[in-house]
Amino acid sequence: MKISLRKETPAALDLPAVAAWCFEDDPLASGTVGLLPEETRKLLAELTESGELKGKAYERTLVHRPAGLAASKLLVTGAGKKEKFRPVHLGRLAGAAVRYLRARGVREMVWLAGDGTTTEQMQCLAEGAVMADYDSDAYRTERNGDFRIDSFILAGESLAVSDELNAALERGQVIAEAANFARSLVNEPGNRMTPTILARKAREMASLAGLEYQELGEDEIRSLKMEAFLAVAQGSEEPPRLLVLRYLPADAPASPVIGLVGKGITFDSGGISLKSATDMHEMKTDMAGGATMLGVMQAISRIKPKVRVIAVIPATENMPGGKAYRPGDVITSMSGKTIEVLNTDAEGRLALADSISYARQLGCNVLIDAATLTAAVAVALGKVMTGVFGRDQQWIDRVISSGTQTGEKMWQLPVDDDYRDLYKSSIGDIANTGGRYGGAITAAMFVGEFVGDTPWVHLDIAGTAWSNDEKPWLAKGPTGVPVRTLVHLLTHLGG
Ligand code: BES
Ligand code: MN
Ligand code: ZN
Repeated sequence: MKISLRKETPAALDLPAVAAWCFEDDPLASGTVGLLPEETRKLLAELTESGELKGKAYERTLVHRPAGLAASKLLVTGAGKKEKFRPVHLGRLAGAAVRYLRARGVREMVWLAGDGTTTEQMQCLAEGAVMADYDSDAYRTERNGDFRIDSFILAGESLAVSDELNAALERGQVIAEAANFARSLVNEPGNRMTPTILARKAREMASLAGLEYQELGEDEIRSLKMEAFLAVAQGSEEPPRLLVLRYLPADAPASPVIGLVGKGITFDSGGISLKSATDMHEMKTDMAGGATMLGVMQAISRIKPKVRVIAVIPATENMPGGKAYRPGDVITSMSGKTIEVLNTDAEGRLALADSISYARQLGCNVLIDAATLTAAVAVALGKVMTGVFGRDQQWIDRVISSGTQTGEKMWQLPVDDDYRDLYKSSIGDIANTGGRYGGAITAAMFVGEFVGDTPWVHLDIAGTAWSNDEKPWLAKGPTGVPVRTLVHLLTHLGG
């Protein structure tokens, strides 16, 4: 998608479609409907009288051959109530317009922008437009995705076209493209997204992005004594990979070194503790945390924040092969802690445990992990909010605040020593499950057993990485959560 700014009166824009928006409280004068010529607004007044145009959230009203405009179509998108409106909602509105228009064959559209459009709003608009132009039907022979917006033009009569606004658009586009990259990885089915393929995708991205890339095979993983990660991998015919990507700009301070650890289970059958057939296909998304970190690394390689970042992604399948690890097995993690495996379906925390130890060994002194770790987090928070855990409130608050600003909602759940009893083991140091109650908490705390004193934030994205229904602004399928949050965090540190 090409995104550009143009200083022009709406009436003169001789293009297939113009998109404006309005609030529910005042649909004829608010938002950018107020920027339309008198004649066009008279036409819209008829639609408000008939009740067709109300300005309710994501209501879309299409007018063909609109009076007063050179464009062939005018789309008015409702923004709902004014009080709740924030810049991220502007991005969603742009997305809703993109999805509506491209479904009707439009490839070139204008988004009306007022003279007061801030850089933050511009970035949100670009993000929303690019995120909306993605579909998950990659293997349908007649794809929805064949309907694309090629050109998204932000135009206004009094728009001050500046370097700052252009830079904001560019930043929004880079971030959304990174999120879409992550989404495309998550969307791939298990047969087309093995650890080897994920490694190849990471290598290709890193080479284009100019990131340092390193890939550890089975023997190297074994020499590092990552028995917990290897235990998960041993039931699969597909060899595991540990992916390491480094973004270490010379002009960044020596500290912090942020470690991004992403769960990369390319398919989670549950292993010997086999999952039930219902919805098992969804477990192709179990590498969403890893995909997130690849998206984040791609974005920061382009935005170039002055901060050191290392991504560590354990990539493997969890399969019930003849060599698979068993319930009851005791394994020694890289940290030396022994783990009793009570359920082979609690594999994510095992892969994360060793990856966190490794990230610390590489010098990371702040750790953020993202993982589709537990069904329990979706029971607690639904598919709306990502669960946030950790022991360092300052970093937790930073992550949550970045989530709020990018529209990726997050909610903190507790980490408390009184839960530790739930996952104690009678044979070793800790067990890999903590029973039915507080499942997202005990999983998070299990991971936290390996961070030592390092500030750490854990994001359980099992509910939010995948959307079961289409939103007006976003396709059904992979959401790209939490790529935008983490990019926002890394680009706003120390300021
Ligand atoms: N990958 C799953 C969690 C998951 C569930 C992600 C649904 C996305 C959607 C994870 O490996 C898992 O199986 N967790 C178990 C843990 C249990 C065995 C303690 C779970 O949540 O049931
Ligand atoms: Mn599992
Ligand atoms: Zn899993």
